[in-house]
Amino acid sequence: MTTSLFSIAFGVGTQNRQGNWLEVFYARPLLAPSTELVAKVSEVLGYTGGNQAIAISNNQAAKLADALKGVDAAQSALLTRLAESHRPLVATLLAEDAALSSTPEAYLKLHLLSHRLVKPHGVNLTGIFPLLPNVAWTNQGAIDLAELAERQLEARLKGELLEVISVDKFPKMADYVVPSGVRIADTARVRLGAYIGEGTTVMHEGFVNFNAGTEGPGMIEGRVSAGVFVGKGSDLGGGCSTMGTLSGGGNIVISVGEGCLIGANAGIGIPLGDRCTVEAGLYVTAGTKVALLDDQSNLVKVVKGRDLAGQSDLLFRRNSQTGAVECKTNRTAIELNEALHAHN
Ligand SMILES: CC(C)(COP(=O)(O)OP(=O)(O)OC[C@H]1O[C@@H](n2cnc3c(N)ncnc32)[C@H](O)[C@@H]1OP(=O)(O)O)[C@@H](O)C(=O)NCCC(=O)NCCS
Repeated sequence: MTTSLFSIAFGVGTQNRQGNWLEVFYARPLLAPSTELVAKVSEVLGYTGGNQAIAISNNQAAKLADALKGVDAAQSALLTRLAESHRPLVATLLAEDAALSSTPEAYLKLHLLSHRLVKPHGVNLTGIFPLLPNVAWTNQGAIDLAELAERQLEARLKGELLEVISVDKFPKMADYVVPSGVRIADTARVRLGAYIGEGTTVMHEGFVNFNAGTEGPGMIEGRVSAGVFVGKGSDLGGGCSTMGTLSGGGNIVISVGEGCLIGANAGIGIPLGDRCTVEAGLYVTAGTKVALLDDQSNLVKVVKGRDLAGQSDLLFRRNSQTGAVECKTNRTAIELNEALHAHN
């Protein structure tokens, strides 16, 4: 019998009329649960190993609550609540961090990221897209797109409005978890699976994709694309862009170090080290030819953006007279505005 697991979580979710999962909410996902907890759960559910999403009845939830009483009070209390559910329940057990094989598993891994139990790139998300159904996220919860028209009519006939908030594979993170110490001005801009570190502010123009995020503290007014991780004390200016790797051929994984400033409407197609600044409006790609300047602003040599990937203390700017992209030593690395960050 398996006694150590990668992760376990008990969830309540939504299924379509065919009984396929549309989404799962895990209130308290666990990473590396105790062997004692795993043993008790295995006994109740007859689990013998592997990665499994086991549909459980209210009765089984009550039994699990009982079995975990002396082992994990928080999980036991959660299961007591789940035992009263009118919605479908699931116990998801992951023996190992393997490629995904079910919708409840995919949702568990997105929860692990947003609960800050794993960092971006810290969990295997292979195969995620086909396992996340495209769903209408409404004020009445998740609805299968094939069932939406009927539900809209039903609502209208009762004099109600079924509001469709988005149509997407990923829901808003904040509908599943709001991690401590963050501000998110527009919750629609942060997807489940984002990792939003303590002390992060995401302003209305900011966006954070899944498997991406911030170490915190930080100010995000630009796009943090899938796979991008931003170090502490960094500021992404209004409307700026970090290049993603999901589409369009970019294959360098982008990251932003600590204490960086990406100016308004600027962008990066290379990873930045610590204390780097990119001038407002300048997009530095891997192939951009960059003139390296010394302290007296004399040309040292011309390199490509990718040659500077991950290096610290750089200031990138476009010379406003010649149009050439230049790189100098960054002497005035930013400090985040304390007054803006002290109140999360
Ligand atoms: C690139 C940047 C950091 C430079 O700012 P700075 O370090 O304060 O530099 P300064 O503006 O004081 O300029 C220093 C010198 O370089 C010159 N200079 C600045 N940018 C230049 C450019 N693009 N081309 C040519 N010269 C430039 C200045 O004219 C000044 O010249 P001087 O020494 O003759 O007076 C700044 O222009 C910038 O883009 N900041 C981003 C701010 C931002 O977008 N924040 C997010 C808000 S949402």
